[in-house]
Amino acid sequence: MSEEDFPKIELMVSEDGSTTLYRPDLDEHYHSVHGAVQESLHVFINAGLKQINKSKFNLLEVGFGTGLNAYLTLASMNGNSECHYHSLEKYPLPKEYGKAINYPEVYPFQGAREFFDRMHQCAWESEQLIQSGFFLRKIETDFNRFQFDASYDLIYFDAFGPDKQAEMWTPDLFVKLSEATNPGGILTTYSAKGTVRRALAAAGYVVDRLPGPPGKREMIRAIKPV
Ligand SMILES: C[S@@+](CC[C@H](N)C(=O)[O-])C[C@H]1O[C@@H](n2cnc3c(N)ncnc32)[C@H](O)[C@@H]1O
Repeated sequence: MSEEDFPKIELMVSEDGSTTLYRPDLDEHYHSVHGAVQESLHVFINAGLKQINKSKFNLLEVGFGTGLNAYLTLASMNGNSECHYHSLEKYPLPKEYGKAINYPEVYPFQGAREFFDRMHQCAWESEQLIQSGFFLRKIETDFNRFQFDASYDLIYFDAFGPDKQAEMWTPDLFVKLSEATNPGGILTTYSAKGTVRRALAAAGYVVDRLPGPPGKREMIRAIKPV
């Protein structure tokens, strides 16, 4: 993507001290301004990752962004499991953003900065080993056109909000996601919008509303029946 096509992005700090990004053209943040790390732990790690009981699993993320969800997933792995993390992104951030983002300092563990930088600097398109048991495949693509070549046990649906990017939340795209979800697979998202719940149910998921992270009343967890 040429520099001209790349949207303007501003770096800022959310209320829990973790960085997030802001897209002025959409008037949209990449994460909750009440706390980026806090939101990601609540919606994706606790409501998603921690509910998976397979020792080897495929995970799809829609919207790699800052790599926060990928980072917290790696940080939450128990050492005995194997995660194949595929993440779609239409606007990969220039590499220097990785250095300015503070997740390894706000949510540290041994070797955190090294792993986070590796996630930002590794090659796109093919699976890369980041840490024992954690394989990352970043895919530069438009989700609206992407053809899946794998099926998934867990989906982090982390597009910009349905009010800002309605084309990412259409019933047809949820059918496409449902077809790529394994029986018993889980999709989590921070949105609890009625149109999203209905589209997920129509696509074949059993949909639950869960309490949302701070600043948000509810979120969605959808499960593909076995
Ligand atoms: C809410 S942010 C995701 C935050 C990210 N999961 C993280 O951990 O930082 C939404 C992301 O979707 C990306 N995006 C926007 N339109 C897209 C499209 N058509 N296909 C794929 N990704 C898209 C944006 O560039 C942005 O990185």
